[in-house]
Amino acid sequence: MAIPQSFLDELEARCPIEEVVADYVTLSAKGGNLWGLCPFHGEKTPSFAVSPDKHIFHCFGCGKGGGVVRFLMEIENLSFIEAVRKLAARAGLEMPEEDQAAQERRNRRRRLLELNKQAARFYYDTLRSPLGEPMRKYIAKRQLTSAYVKRFGLGAAPDSWDSLIKAMTAQGFEKGELLEAGLVVAGKSGGVYDKFRNRLMLPVIDATGDILGFTSRVMDNSTPKYLNTPETAIFKKRSILYGIQWAKLTKRSFFLLVEGNLDVITLHQAGIDNAVATMGTALTAEHARLIGRYTNELVLCYDNDSAGVEATQRAMAVLKDTTLRVRVLQLPRRKTPEGELVKQDPDDFIKLQGPAAFERLLAGSADQSEYRLETIQQKYDLAKTEDRAAFLKEAAQMIAQLSSPVEREIYAGRAAQAAEVSKEAMVREVEDSRRRHANQRRRKEERAALTPAANLQPKARELRYANVRSARAEEGVIRLLFLDSTLLSLCRGLTQEQFSSPLWGRIYAALAQGELPPNPAAFDAVLSGEEADLLARLLHTPQSLAEGRQAMTDYIAIIQEEAHRRDTAQSDPMADLLAIRAKKKQKEVTEEQT
Ligand code: UTP
Ligand code: MN
Repeated sequence: MAIPQSFLDELEARCPIEEVVADYVTLSAKGGNLWGLCPFHGEKTPSFAVSPDKHIFHCFGCGKGGGVVRFLMEIENLSFIEAVRKLAARAGLEMPEEDQAAQERRNRRRRLLELNKQAARFYYDTLRSPLGEPMRKYIAKRQLTSAYVKRFGLGAAPDSWDSLIKAMTAQGFEKGELLEAGLVVAGKSGGVYDKFRNRLMLPVIDATGDILGFTSRVMDNSTPKYLNTPETAIFKKRSILYGIQWAKLTKRSFFLLVEGNLDVITLHQAGIDNAVATMGTALTAEHARLIGRYTNELVLCYDNDSAGVEATQRAMAVLKDTTLRVRVLQLPRRKTPEGELVKQDPDDFIKLQGPAAFERLLAGSADQSEYRLETIQQKYDLAKTEDRAAFLKEAAQMIAQLSSPVEREIYAGRAAQAAEVSKEAMVREVEDSRRRHANQRRRKEERAALTPAANLQPKARELRYANVRSARAEEGVIRLLFLDSTLLSLCRGLTQEQFSSPLWGRIYAALAQGELPPNPAAFDAVLSGEEADLLARLLHTPQSLAEGRQAMTDYIAIIQEEAHRRDTAQSDPMADLLAIRAKKKQKEVTEEQT
């Protein structure tokens, strides 16, 4: 639902950010700001600042920031609307009327959640009834304790076509609602029947404790082994992490990501209370964001087979674009009595080796580089000369990309040892690869300079600066407009398109067109977390208003000059090439002179 701006203004005025933050963080005044220990990352000296004048918070350590609404969203893990509602209650403000559609959506969601809760209760009770006998046996076979069966709300779907339908309709739920929740399936003749039959039921619960849907397991070898709730209005696999309701409370500094739902339960039962799993799907950016709310480190523990290795690599590709630190835990393969090597998952491992052995693996889990080197190594048979050469080349390429010389040294040493060549030879190979890489990069940069249009549309990271000179001026404009909106009158010739940074351009347009007031809480509604962080950081940088009009005029001139330069460069690539040449010449001359 869209909240009227006037309401957000009122909310911000009635809920001073320093008071709201003070409910969670002890603040003390220092130099115009209030400082405390950041609640979003562990620290011993305060780098978390609240500015009562600017209505923002910003952590100089982890970079989190925003207005009062964003603060509540982050600390209580709420959606924008939930945070607004909470603040409104705090200030004794009546929430504005929602439009009808939004109200209906919210009611429907609430109703679906209620239905799931009742269904979970039905399955839970069934597990404890005579009908739950086969499931209780299966639970015993999996060695799950009753405490953890309860903790994860496990239940039993009886071997019947309509038990759930009967139980739920008796409570006043309609068939349409059961269909919408994915708990029943429509048959050919227009009737419906229970989707989950003769299965162990595992409710899928979100961080706030709501039951979004179910996953379920057969108790024999029939298929499908696992059956999930289909995608519904509330069950969206790409953003669900099984086990998050408990993992979010862990005292460990990282999360452990595994493949299976039952692995999660076994791990928690073994004291590894930070395990989560996706719902049988690949890790998405949304999953990563959810994890990032609670921790800044993730250990990947996928199965040790080729599918698991592939999943690990895919997950790493997703995680590369986040601030999460990544480690990989590879479970050893197990030898069968016949001497065959087979994969094992965390559940198998803990049953055979015990929790302490798992903790040992966890402590020694490889960082990304180690894992990547091992993966490369596994592709080759190092007893063969030609394989050895290929391995060394590929390893050198990978090691060359490490930015720390110490790390390069360490891994070059390891690769050399694995392939039985001298460390010096390997180091040389790595440095060669680095040089080749640097040359390639330089050529690429020169090419990019010839086509600035490509730079204007940064792909992976919308927030990267394509033109630092222009971007600094753009920051200045935004900062000034937040301090004094009358300066907008100077911006008549300035357009969003002239901004080189899409984010600052968007914020400028919203301010210039009067869509949003210069008020951080208003922007909390429309910016992503990362964008809000950047805006708060920008607003925190001091800016004097003494020369505000002059500064604004200067900034606008720079932005327009850079925009003009991009336009002409686009139409005349030679001009830029010549400029690069001239600059290079100039540099050589100065270097010669010094
Ligand atoms: P696995 O087949 O590796 O099973 O599936 P597992 O977790 O070891 O299960 P157990 O130990 O035999 O009970 C890993 C995950 O893939 C998804 C599930 O989320 C499962 O936990 N999956 C698997 C499905 O969604 N459907 C299936 O049919 C199988
Ligand atoms: Mn398993």
